[in-house]
Amino acid sequence: MSSNSQRSFKVYKIDNGTVIDHINSSMALKIIDILEIKKDGIVSIGMNFDSAVTGKKDIIKIENVHLDKKHTDMIAIFSPQATINIIKDSEVVEKRQVEVPKVINKVLRCPNPTCVTNKYHDCDSKFIVEHYDENQTYGRCYYCERETLITPDLVK
Ligand code: CTP
Ligand code: ZN
Repeated sequence: MSSNSQRSFKVYKIDNGTVIDHINSSMALKIIDILEIKKDGIVSIGMNFDSAVTGKKDIIKIENVHLDKKHTDMIAIFSPQATINIIKDSEVVEKRQVEVPKVINKVLRCPNPTCVTNKYHDCDSKFIVEHYDENQTYGRCYYCERETLITPDLVK
């Protein structure tokens, strides 16, 4: 095999599972974190692939798991253009966009140091999404009511 044809083989196709495509460049690892899929099976990650639409993109392939909308909508916070592809028998049987959820449970920490969610480990965080556009999402902490711009560094 020549080096050129080796280079054209990037991430292999999967028979069954979920492909998260068009992820904003360098967001793949954060998304793996929020999906909590690290122990679920074979996960391949491609980072900084060329993309006609966004310049560069990341891609995640999770084998033998079909992630539902409830799981994948979280991705919209960090990568609103991401596409979810459900693969069965090697074919894309469902393709959907991600939508910013109304409520974000558990995955973020509140930036307010005196918030109850930072004081007690058994108190999960909860943010109510107030408004968002393609670049920014603002959420209000359900407990201390502080409004905050949601950024990747708030992922626990
Ligand atoms: N894919 C995969 N395994 C398959 C089928 C598809 O890993 N058996 C991946 C492709 O590599 C691609 C994504 O799933 O990253 C979507 O596949 P497809 O819809 O065929 O590609 P495009 O038409 O390029 O998708 P889009 O229009 O969303 O850019
Ligand atoms: Zn708070």
